[in-house]
Amino acid sequence: MHEPLASAPLVFRDDGTPYSPRHDDIYHSAAGALAQAHHVFLNGNGLPERWRGKARFSVLETGFGMGINFLATWAAWRDDVQRAASIEFVSIEKHPFSADDLRRAHATIIDDETIVPLADALASAWPPLVPGVHRLEFDAGAVTLKVAFGDATDLLPRLSRSGMRADAIYLDGFAPAKNPDMWTPAIFASLADIASEDATFATYTSAGDVKRALLQNGFEYRKVTGFGGKRAMLVGRRGRS
Ligand SMILES: C[S@@+](CC[C@H](N)C(=O)[O-])C[C@H]1O[C@@H](n2cnc3c(N)ncnc32)[C@H](O)[C@@H]1O
Repeated sequence: MHEPLASAPLVFRDDGTPYSPRHDDIYHSAAGALAQAHHVFLNGNGLPERWRGKARFSVLETGFGMGINFLATWAAWRDDVQRAASIEFVSIEKHPFSADDLRRAHATIIDDETIVPLADALASAWPPLVPGVHRLEFDAGAVTLKVAFGDATDLLPRLSRSGMRADAIYLDGFAPAKNPDMWTPAIFASLADIASEDATFATYTSAGDVKRALLQNGFEYRKVTGFGGKRAMLVGRRGRS
């Protein structure tokens, strides 16, 4: 039996940044959610360049939140004349927002007119908050979003067993000090199973425990400039064996 899901409340800090009282952390940098998605997760994974010429490109994300990274990725794919023929975005979320709260969050956060219709399509297709994997399709099936409701520790091994292989990994599960459950050795072992041979990853954190876990699980990393005044973040790839 699945445990019932506990949804997330929509709360904003005084500066307008969405905040999780459960984890005492913010969903995105106060310097801009979409700009952070581009700097940390798209650029950090060498996108859009890395999907060019491919029939299919898969992204795995830990922590769907408000779907800002998904929307930024979908919009970048649409804008790219050399895009992969199809894109699969798989994201895990233990505490999803309701469709109404997603809409309210997007209305506050999204400052790019080209993304507004995509956000509307996402909220309109948003599944009931029931545990398990929900498959949504956009752009005539060229874009697949699999949003997996539940705990990443349980769901990552399931995704791995189902044959999922990720070309890019977005590690976005709140700060390790605030939410250690998303940065355990078991999570990194599952990510290593799911990473394709050429997989890359990116994350805003540069915490020592994360660096060690990456190395222990066969990833190589380098420190690069973080977003919004943050000194460093990590990007890297699956190591060559
Ligand atoms: C920083 S936010 C993600 C922001 C998101 N990527 C976006 O683009 O809007 C981190 C997310 O991880 C989720 N989360 C925290 N612990 C989790 C766990 N153990 N399993 C799955 N999701 C978890 C939180 O509920 C939260 O939505």
